[in-house]
Amino acid sequence: MEPVLTVENVSKTYTKGKTRTEALKKVSFSVNEGETIAVIGESGAGKSTLLNLLGLIDEPSEGTYSVRGKDTSLMSDKDKALLRNKEFGFILQEYGLVDYLTVEENISIPLEYSDEKPDRKKRGKRIQSILETLGIKDKMKEQAGMLSGGQRQRVAIARALINNPGIVLADEPTSALDEKTKSEMIEMLLRFQKESGSMLIVVTHDSAVAERMGRTLRFENGTLTEDVKNA
Ligand SMILES: Nc1ncnc2c1ncn2[C@@H]1O[C@H](COP(=O)(O)OP(=O)(O)O)[C@@H](O)[C@H]1O
Ligand SMILES: [Mg+2]
Repeated sequence: MEPVLTVENVSKTYTKGKTRTEALKKVSFSVNEGETIAVIGESGAGKSTLLNLLGLIDEPSEGTYSVRGKDTSLMSDKDKALLRNKEFGFILQEYGLVDYLTVEENISIPLEYSDEKPDRKKRGKRIQSILETLGIKDKMKEQAGMLSGGQRQRVAIARALINNPGIVLADEPTSALDEKTKSEMIEMLLRFQKESGSMLIVVTHDSAVAERMGRTLRFENGTLTEDVKNA
């Protein structure tokens, strides 16, 4: 089976004036269909940088990143944007919700960019069913800015999953949650992953979250220092 994601000798250097930061150094690994991965490491280790590269939000300075065998450096910006919208679902650290829009409108954003645009009625049904699973269906018409932290996080999950992405990338998705909501949220992501056979890659500080994933990648100062299957 060919890996879905292949990272080969990837480095990422940020240059700001005279300061160069090597955020990732010669990182190599690959990910197969259906894998669940925890990305761990100290603050500044390069975890968010890695997630941005994987999600085609940013590009490597050196090395090769391929998605389903295709070298992403050979793709046009347009092809990358299409691939990103088709394959990836993001849950960002600050959720990235638009406060003045309703829950429904926030969740609809990725559908606007999708090539397969569902009609209004179908779309409404899809949003309703995903909110029902997440236990916030009654909030559909409320402004995102009016919700609690845990509810906002659920909306961010709903938005990430609405396109049925093959690859879900989450950057510390549980950092703002209490223990109970945290484990509910991880189980929800794992359930989606299982049902849809998608991949789940989660950056986390939390060992309880990391232990629920099938594999752990540890980063130290931009270097991948550990790549282990979890028991
Ligand atoms: N846009 C940027 N410009 C310059 N330096 C950056 C940028 N983003 C991240 N860095 C630096 O790269 C290193 C890795 O950052 P990051 O990937 O955000 O780490 P983590 O998510 O593990 O905390 C840090 O030293 C950080 O300051
Ligand atoms: Mg980070």
